[in-house]
Amino acid sequence: MDSSRATAIELQGVTKSFRTQSGRGTVVALDAVDLAVETGEIFGLVGESGSGKTTAGRLMVRLDRADEGVVRVAGADLNRLRGKGLRDFRRKVQMIFQDPYQSLNPYMSVSDTVGEPLIIAGELSPAERRQKVLQMLATVGLGPPEAFLRRYPHQLSGGQRQRVAIARAMVLDPEIMVADEPTSMLDASMAVQIYQLLASIQAGRAMTMVFITHSLAAAHYLCDRIAVIYRGVVVECGPAETVIFHPRHPYTRALMDALPRHGRPGAQRRYGTLRPEPRPGRFPGGCVFFDHCNRADPHRCAHRRPALRSMGDGVSAACFLAAPHRSRGM
Ligand SMILES: Nc1ncnc2c1ncn2[C@@H]1O[C@H](COP(=O)(O)OP(=O)(O)O)[C@@H](O)[C@H]1O
Ligand SMILES: [Mg+2]
Repeated sequence: MDSSRATAIELQGVTKSFRTQSGRGTVVALDAVDLAVETGEIFGLVGESGSGKTTAGRLMVRLDRADEGVVRVAGADLNRLRGKGLRDFRRKVQMIFQDPYQSLNPYMSVSDTVGEPLIIAGELSPAERRQKVLQMLATVGLGPPEAFLRRYPHQLSGGQRQRVAIARAMVLDPEIMVADEPTSMLDASMAVQIYQLLASIQAGRAMTMVFITHSLAAAHYLCDRIAVIYRGVVVECGPAETVIFHPRHPYTRALMDALPRHGRPGAQRRYGTLRPEPRPGRFPGGCVFFDHCNRADPHRCAHRRPALRSMGDGVSAACFLAAPHRSRGM
């Protein structure tokens, strides 16, 4: 990694489990995750539903705490933050959620929603606050901004609601933003507009952004680097272009195979790394992808968990069989 760029977010050996609904078992949402997000980049966290993306995002903004491991964000060790340090952290680090219906208070007008963080910060007069709110609404593409001030969430479209949530998250000019599948409730054309908005906001401020998505295509559109996560384990990480166009891990390859290609649903799979049927049995000590992997070595991959290892071109992959840069293995 380029050591001249400071690390904005670092996860080291982070594990987080939850009790299942029944209360009898536990789910390991994140399993010994190591990650580093550089200052000023857009970092994508990509994985299917249930892979642990939201859990990782919530740990980064300290809505939850890790069971084990270290989470360092904006220079602070989140296990130790309290008091003033925690209040400063809450200003600097913001999250945008999947569903703006749930994240916006239905009884608060747009003006109050976007202005509230300014009131809590307590630095501006009411007139200055109003100016700042109008400016934020314009920034997120809600215009004319005056027309939105007195509206309530139910009077807005899904896209407009997410723009209000973005304006609220941005109003204190955060250093770091975690956006958790911000377009999953929107249709495709609206989603593209939100991506464009996030990209332009980030570029204008050199803000660090973590973009959580289940879509490799969306990650490719927005991100500088990405990490692919599967069942709570980071299986591949590196520059978005390289990971997407030269995927090393069989799971990343399976994701690429699953992408629709120009309306040719029957088109031949390029990699074929996904087994048609999962392997029977349980392999808790092995690779997380072992039971679905078409390439796995039945001995090594069933019994040992591969660590992330450098492939030589900025990419790391957690696979015993992944071949380094330029060789044509696997
Ligand atoms: N608060 C919670 N209580 C119980 N289980 C949870 C909780 N949050 C997440 N999980 C479980 O942890 C796993 C990862 O969830 P999550 O981080 O939400 O994944 P993703 O965002 O990738 O869909 C899932 O199995 C999910 O059911
Ligand atoms: Mg999620």
